[in-house]
Amino acid sequence: MFRRHRRLRQNEVIRSMVRETFLHPSDFIYPIFVVEGTNIKKEISSLPGNYHFSIDRLHEIVKEMTEVRVKSVILFGIPDHKDECGSGAYDENGIIQKAIRKIKELNKDIYIITDVCMCEYTSHGHCGIIHGEDVDNDETLEYIAKISLSHAKAGADMIAPSDMMDGRIDAIRDILDENGYKNIPIMAYSAKYCSAFYGPFREAADSTPEFGDRKTYQMDPANVREAMLEIEDDIDEGADIIMVKPALSYLDVIRVARDRYDVPVAAYNVSGEYAMIKVAAKAGLIDEKRIALEMLTSIKRAGAKMIITYYALEAARWLKEE
Ligand code: PBG
Repeated sequence: MFRRHRRLRQNEVIRSMVRETFLHPSDFIYPIFVVEGTNIKKEISSLPGNYHFSIDRLHEIVKEMTEVRVKSVILFGIPDHKDECGSGAYDENGIIQKAIRKIKELNKDIYIITDVCMCEYTSHGHCGIIHGEDVDNDETLEYIAKISLSHAKAGADMIAPSDMMDGRIDAIRDILDENGYKNIPIMAYSAKYCSAFYGPFREAADSTPEFGDRKTYQMDPANVREAMLEIEDDIDEGADIIMVKPALSYLDVIRVARDRYDVPVAAYNVSGEYAMIKVAAKAGLIDEKRIALEMLTSIKRAGAKMIITYYALEAARWLKEE
């Protein structure tokens, strides 16, 4: 006697009845890159199919999102001006603040998450204030808090700090609460690894560090227990959602986090993961649609409740076809 597993694989009706994991457009968060200037919709060479948008052309992408029913975005800004302390990041009229107001004006139902970091705004490209050769943790916290507050004031729905300084969730929660933003949730990039998979993003966001690397603040790819400590502290400090980033090489981290903590887990399907598929598809080596959906399904199966992905719109369109 043996079990006939193939009985439940006979046709699509029964296969979909026993299917354990489903993707839905509401799982996806779409990253948008906003630049200064006018009339710009320029394809990002390192992220084919994704664009730099100037504020006056954001309506095009908002319309597309609405059509495919992807309702949340994470915003990244590329400012014209950079300095030592990343002042463009907390300027009331900074690129992100203007983009938030514009998107809300176009469609108030788009859920806006903002990436809070300094690397796109600092002249040296690091994620904080530099003293000597390294980022000063505690001084950076004041800036991270200030940036978060300015995003909330501009109308952001959720704040997502990606800087990896210790104590940032505490600092952000405090400043938001003190200023009347008690109901703005924080999605913490909790287990953010020092990864080579961010390469295409750094080209897109012009945020490559001028010297050194991010190893003193982002995590060592070899560690999973340390990730649990990071997550635990973020939850203690008030994080509403925790994130694992990147996703694909860290599915085990997502799974352990899901099993151990009850707050929702987000995963960032990062630029390198996207670019590898795009390039292989272009070379005719793989079936892009099947691979992309398989990848997104695996991230969800590992335990992620939501996925930040450059495939958001395309995947939503593919799901609609099925
Ligand atoms: C900012 C930030 C980065 C990414 C998201 N926020 C770059 C980095 O940490 O170097 C990477 C996203 C991606 O690769 O898609 N700190």
